[in-house]
Amino acid sequence: MSHMSQKWYQEAVFYELYIRAYYDGNGDGNGDFRGAISKLDYVKSLGVDCIWILPMYPSPLRDDGYDIADYRAIHPDYGNLADFQEFLDAAHDRGLRVITDLVMNHTSDQHAWFQAARQDVNSPYHDYYVWSETGQEYADARIIFLDYEKSNWTYDEKAGKYFWHRFFNSQPDLNYDNPAVQEEMIKIMHFWLDLGVDGFRADAVPYLFEREGTNCENLPETHAFLKKVRRMMDEEYPDKVLIAEANQWPEDVIAYFGDSDEFHMCFHFPVMPRLYMALKQGDKKPIVDILDRTPSIPPEAQWLTFLRNHDELTLEMVTPEEREWMWSQYAPDPRMRSNLGIRRRLTPLVENDKRRWLLLNALLLSLPGTPIIYYGDELGMGDNIWLPDRHGCRTPMQWSAGKNAGFSAADETYFPANADETYGYETVNVEAQENDQDSYLWATRFLLQARSKYQVLRRGQMEMMAINNPAVLAYWRFNPNDEPSDDRLLCIYNLSNQQQSISLELDEYSGRRLTDLLTQSEHLLLGEWPTVKILAPYASHWLRID
Ligand code: GLC
Repeated sequence: MSHMSQKWYQEAVFYELYIRAYYDGNGDGNGDFRGAISKLDYVKSLGVDCIWILPMYPSPLRDDGYDIADYRAIHPDYGNLADFQEFLDAAHDRGLRVITDLVMNHTSDQHAWFQAARQDVNSPYHDYYVWSETGQEYADARIIFLDYEKSNWTYDEKAGKYFWHRFFNSQPDLNYDNPAVQEEMIKIMHFWLDLGVDGFRADAVPYLFEREGTNCENLPETHAFLKKVRRMMDEEYPDKVLIAEANQWPEDVIAYFGDSDEFHMCFHFPVMPRLYMALKQGDKKPIVDILDRTPSIPPEAQWLTFLRNHDELTLEMVTPEEREWMWSQYAPDPRMRSNLGIRRRLTPLVENDKRRWLLLNALLLSLPGTPIIYYGDELGMGDNIWLPDRHGCRTPMQWSAGKNAGFSAADETYFPANADETYGYETVNVEAQENDQDSYLWATRFLLQARSKYQVLRRGQMEMMAINNPAVLAYWRFNPNDEPSDDRLLCIYNLSNQQQSISLELDEYSGRRLTDLLTQSEHLLLGEWPTVKILAPYASHWLRID
């Protein structure tokens, strides 16, 4: 038996589900909780363990719900608290956990706190936000929504002052120097944890505090508050998970795990663009380098890995030259770009090439970390670059070739279902793929099933295999504590569009049986394994050595 810690979130697969896009239960053109309940069997059938839902709170939706107007209720388009509770219970009944997005850094300008704050500078709520007479402070803080904002300060006529915001100017930042704000946020967490949510994806956590002369990211004060939050979780909700959205370099993200006293999980942002980079360059170097640069994490922690999510494919954690290169390769049309990223979905990024799609997913599911699948990517859904902001990747889930992709009976939906020739709902939908063994949906289920069967893929250690061919990435996943080590998996990827030959020295396994989990073939005895092996273009292999 291994002495590794086994927390549920360390071995899970997450599914990112956007309620507005998933299924419209009442025919008003918006997805809702009652609709999503009716699709939970589908979610379960994928083989995922935990659903992450995007912000579901009342909101003017200037940032699609990341601008919260009330932290203790449900957006009326999505239902009400009773519907939410029913969704949660129905998910739990199926063995699915649910985590919600918690936006800590800022509120909507429509939140009652901000309305009170701007109307009366003597109100206790005034100090819930960050104000300035001049709008000159914290000049070293970068602007994140570069396409939309010129400054992190916006003048408010009513208050007669500038307020601080790291995102849209409709999202004033909360003032964490005010103990009352810290208390409020912790009380809000209690509210949802008591309803039964399994944890939070804490949004935009690097920016909670501001200090002159710094870039206002990752400040010690921010970490101190987050440790307080974790202490509360450990004491009162020990089996729940706290996840950091900290889009930072590995050496800065690592601080968010603390000494097992801050976040349980952090997104691994820098590895994501490098998977695409390596695939396009036909060279493993970007992946190998970033993994080398990734420090080890505490025993009860875990990385969250992903290929795509609801935002643009962010290119913040690459060099400026790499960013230009990624844009030129993956976003030739300027409409495909957004801020410092690329607003496209996974399958169009790999040009609907099943081999590349499989390679990226196989990588995602075999690298260390807990993977997240973004709704619709299991079908190969496309994007609509003609929609504003990041909405092109948030179109209705494609259930069938029927009206509105089978998503809604309404005449008009919040945004139209994608209807383009290659990725539109008439071609790409759940119903069609359920009956097609060659579909993306079957491939997704197949990969997830393989991963769930092999503990080494979920928690095993990883060791690079030295292979003298830059196009071929190969690594072992194994369980160091098993004696004898009977469960060893060799993952091999040909990142190039050409055949590649490699020589593998597997003499020490001679006589043992070898199975390729991805093709269910090659039941070879290892003595027979050719020393030189030819890999097809974009080939993926998970070789199990018995
Ligand atoms: C996070 C979210 C993004 C949102 C931003 C501001 O980065 O993923 O969608 O716009 O925070 O809340």
